[in-house]
Amino acid sequence: MAAKTDKDHYIINGGNPLRGEVVIGGAKNAALAIIAASVMTDETVTIENIPDVRDTNVMMEAMEGIGVKIKRLDRHTIEVNGSQVENVNIDTENIRKIRASYYLLGALLGKYRHAEVPLPGGCDIGSRPIDQHVKGFKALGSKVSIERGIMKATADRLSAAHIYMDVVTVGATINVMLSSVLAEGKTIIENAAKEPHVVDVANFLNSMGANIKGAGTDVIRIRGVERLHSCTYSVIPDQIEAGTFMYAAAITGGDILVRNVIPKHLESISAKLEEIGCNIEEFDDAVRVTASGRLQPTHIKTLPYPGYPTDMQPQAGVALALADGVSTITESIFENRFKYVDELTRMGANIRVEGNTAIIDGVEGFTGAHISAPDLRAGASLVLAALAADGATVIDNVRLIERGYEDFDEKIRALGGDIIKTADVKQEIKKSKFKVVG
Ligand code: EPZ
Repeated sequence: MAAKTDKDHYIINGGNPLRGEVVIGGAKNAALAIIAASVMTDETVTIENIPDVRDTNVMMEAMEGIGVKIKRLDRHTIEVNGSQVENVNIDTENIRKIRASYYLLGALLGKYRHAEVPLPGGCDIGSRPIDQHVKGFKALGSKVSIERGIMKATADRLSAAHIYMDVVTVGATINVMLSSVLAEGKTIIENAAKEPHVVDVANFLNSMGANIKGAGTDVIRIRGVERLHSCTYSVIPDQIEAGTFMYAAAITGGDILVRNVIPKHLESISAKLEEIGCNIEEFDDAVRVTASGRLQPTHIKTLPYPGYPTDMQPQAGVALALADGVSTITESIFENRFKYVDELTRMGANIRVEGNTAIIDGVEGFTGAHISAPDLRAGASLVLAALAADGATVIDNVRLIERGYEDFDEKIRALGGDIIKTADVKQEIKKSKFKVVG
């Protein structure tokens, strides 16, 4: 299990192009929902290819706190048995820190018709409303209240509903699936999210005996069943971890074979990387990204899948900040997802943010600086910037990055990146030959 350490800083000496192979882990945002959903049967469920990251471990800890039995067969495989759940009031301190805590609400409501879960936390990338989750739970017949930061949902019975999502939302789409698989009748979700991890959760539930059709399209039909049963399921590869390492090749001028991926899930990312001058080679379960020469500018707008993913927006911001010309990025999903711009400016980037659009005037190169990870994806993207910078960079708050990236520094070192993780920056700088600004 990911060790809890106080090594909360990376020191990175930039300039090495990343070259070699990296193996991608299981998708965090699929695994979180699948782990939560596994309590919906009283039989034992085996889940494989779970990423060993803070968010998945916090989710498992919260579930053990209400009596769910979780046995770790190896670093990425668990056996879950939800037959001994004592109460449905989740209350571990950590659960407030992750967004996906609300999947426990959908799963426990769906199985026990009652659940109490602290309101979600997670990345600070904008207001994270849950009105569509509430709309779905109420449409299925439950009463929902929020008292003292705890969201409570309870229902005498859950019955089919025809729910039209006001916005395309991954979380609410998954939560309505979870709370309706054991409801009476046929529930329809219109304007549903189509992300690969939504499809993965639907496939997992169907492996447990649910009857869900249409996942991956914008209309999902769920016919309620009596009960769910055991299964063994392997989580899909992480589209965003894969995309992050694809950009690592682009930003450092390297050559990386990104293995254990589903190329179909990466199409919008590959298309943009080709647009800015990278060469992409696709294999059955791998993509190879090579970059030589200066990157070219382009324009990006984040959209729900299959559009360009918002979770890949900071990575594109770093790449375009080095491109030979002016680019724009419009963030249409979250309202505060440009926090990395201030940090990148300290490294020499020239970016202006106006509303939800960043105007990026590419520079020749970055210089190292002392910066901090503002959130999960921005933090990972700043690591990529540091790997391309001239000189040394210190990045603080790396635990935010390790919420969603397993062995991130080890994987980068294996590709030739000069990165260490440390609790004592001063000590390490004294030992090294680089002077870190600030
Ligand atoms: C999931 O968040 C992911 N997190 C996010 O990844 C990802 O950025 C996001 O989906 C979009 O793909 C997890 O899966 C744990 P949404 P979620 O509901 O479900 C609005 C990462 O880096 N909205 O699809 O919270 C919302 O404000 C994280 O791994 C409502 O208005 O995202 C946003 O504008 C960051 N009402 C839009 O929908 C609601 O009830 C999309 O949000 C719910 C959402």
